[in-house]
Amino acid sequence: IDELLAEGVAGKRVFVRADLNVPLDGTTITDDGRIRAVLPTVKALAEAGARVVVASHLGRPKGAPDPAFSLAPAAARLGELLGADVAFATDTVGDSARAVVAGLADGQVAVVENLRFNAGETSKDDAERGAFAEQLAALADVYVGDGFGAVHRKHASVYDLPAKLPHYAGHLIATEVTVLKKLTEDVKRPYVVALGGAKVSDKLAVIDQLLGKADRLLIGGGMAYTFLKAKGYEVGTSLLQADQIPAVTEYLERAEKLGVELVLPVDVLVAGEFPDLKTKAPANPTTVAADAIPADQEGLDIGPETRKLYASKLTDAATVFWNGPMGVFEHPDYAQGTAAVAQALIDSDGFTVVGGGDSAAAVRTLGFDENAFGHISTGGGASLEYLEGKTLPGLAALED
Ligand code: 3PG
Repeated sequence: IDELLAEGVAGKRVFVRADLNVPLDGTTITDDGRIRAVLPTVKALAEAGARVVVASHLGRPKGAPDPAFSLAPAAARLGELLGADVAFATDTVGDSARAVVAGLADGQVAVVENLRFNAGETSKDDAERGAFAEQLAALADVYVGDGFGAVHRKHASVYDLPAKLPHYAGHLIATEVTVLKKLTEDVKRPYVVALGGAKVSDKLAVIDQLLGKADRLLIGGGMAYTFLKAKGYEVGTSLLQADQIPAVTEYLERAEKLGVELVLPVDVLVAGEFPDLKTKAPANPTTVAADAIPADQEGLDIGPETRKLYASKLTDAATVFWNGPMGVFEHPDYAQGTAAVAQALIDSDGFTVVGGGDSAAAVRTLGFDENAFGHISTGGGASLEYLEGKTLPGLAALED
């Protein structure tokens, strides 16, 4: 983007592919981190006199307009953060978008409606995606890719559109790639990775890669129960992906062979039922050893001994990557595991990276100062796939 700004953008229509996929409660944004993350790019372009057209997906609508997934709240929040009026188009490439873009003065910003209201955005068919990218290209003179959270998606606005316009990487993508490179090239050791979240199947590829790179892997969240089951423990009614047990067993064996510490919970908080996240009524969990989960109980957070153990494994780390909450942090009775890992990252002198929509949201909603971490990535799947060493379509499209 510095190159683009040096060339001059005054009067040019610049399409910014952002990731404004923020968590919503109705129309209330519960974490605006992703909107704040794209501000440097939007501000720099607007200050340089560009006519800025911001586009993003939100949620997973089915290729047609769906009011529950409107970007209107995100556009309003962007306007508040910019301290400027932000125009909003009620479609993505139709009459409203064309009129809004045509009405932009130099230095003004507009947001067009959710890209995924158009089937062409996520289509597997190259021609259908290409046709939608043509319609997007007609709205702009220049493309700036800055939606890091979506660079792993081979979607029209991420992958096909850059080829149709002069294209540049925005500040956020540049920062994210610089930081994630520190985790893949010449990583400072000990390199400790904490992984949580519900499904082990989402993390298989990254665990596979990390077993050759990290010194320690700490496992928490719902995915831990598949590991505990693979070790031969009973896990009651906890989340379990039985079909993943063979893969997980192989990881446990490989970790031992490679001398990588693969650390599992030694105790967990359990209850007879999943907590009510709306009322947040007290859940009264009990603490049990990880090998003594009662048959009718569900594990919902790591326990106090595990919190201490994981903190001790994180304090001397030179590099930390953390992805995925340790428990059902949305309920106060099950937030302590996630909070303990967040605090251990803050206490560590090493370089700490929080990756993942959920862990980033957890850090902020639990009240931690985001500046206390080395970097909070806006990418969930994107940062994991980067660490897996995959070619990310949205980065490849910008590279030339
Ligand atoms: C994310 O939240 O990880 C990104 O915004 C991508 O969203 P998606 O998984 O729906 O493509």
